[in-house]
Amino acid sequence: MLASHATLRTAVLISALILPGLAAQLLLRPPHKAHAAQISEPVAEGKRLWIHNGCDRCHAILGTGGHLAPDVTRTYAVRGEAWLRVYLADPAAHTNGRRMPNLRLSPSGITAIVAYLAWASQIGANGWPPAPQAAADEAPRGYELFLAQHCDACHTIQGRGGQVGPDLSREGARQTKAWILDQINNPRNHRPDSIMFSFAQLPEPDKDSLAEYLASLK
Ligand code: HEC
Ligand code: HEC
Repeated sequence: MLASHATLRTAVLISALILPGLAAQLLLRPPHKAHAAQISEPVAEGKRLWIHNGCDRCHAILGTGGHLAPDVTRTYAVRGEAWLRVYLADPAAHTNGRRMPNLRLSPSGITAIVAYLAWASQIGANGWPPAPQAAADEAPRGYELFLAQHCDACHTIQGRGGQVGPDLSREGARQTKAWILDQINNPRNHRPDSIMFSFAQLPEPDKDSLAEYLASLK
């Protein structure tokens, strides 16, 4: 009786010492470390293929990589698995012949890369990539469209985007809204040999928001 009482006291004492330590460890453990532990075999293979195929020369994930093409940290969450599989098997068929090359991935390679993108997008759910604050505040809709239409594959606004076309951070100081709208509809009106493709097919209100937004950047 006495012995078991003592045992109980010891047990209580031990848990009182250990439990807060455990709880603190769980609470203090940085979320990305917890996540890194979840790198499974296909995710690791996908990451290897991502580098091996040079995807990172054009695309960034979590801030690492090139800026010629959209940041794909959140692509899995936005597009979903089925879309990605079809897209990666034949990018040109889904992009009006834009510059995403067909890297002839095998079906198992696609599975691995999709697993890697799924993993990245879970991390990305934490608000990555950060949007340029001022731009987002001034005209969120126009900036959303700018990203959604991948204008940022070629153009930079406030430090984020590609270098193929001019930096548009101060476009409103250079051009009027009407001129910008014309550029969106038919880039060859301004430059006969333009490599910017026409976005004439976008709904009128979207084109208007884009032009309004860019004209506001001064
Ligand atoms: C030479 C540059 C380049 C390389 C290399 C490249 N991409 Fe792309 N990628 C692009 C461009 C440009 C787009 C945007 C196409 C568009 O807007 O229609 C794109 C689009 C994508 C998208 C669709 C994003 C979206 O939500 O619309 C995915 C996914 C993607 N690439 C994955 C990959 C993977 C995986 C690799 C490597 C196997 C790769 N890319 C290699 C240029 C590249
Ligand atoms: C494939 C690359 C590419 C994409 C994608 C692209 N542009 Fe361009 N853009 C260019 C290039 C290159 C120029 C430079 C002039 C030219 O060649 O037409 C340009 C010029 C412009 C200009 C005129 C800049 C100036 O003052 O001279 C505007 C405005 C513009 N783009 C807006 C957009 C918008 C909005 C989108 C998305 C809806 C977009 N661009 C998508 C390549 C691109």
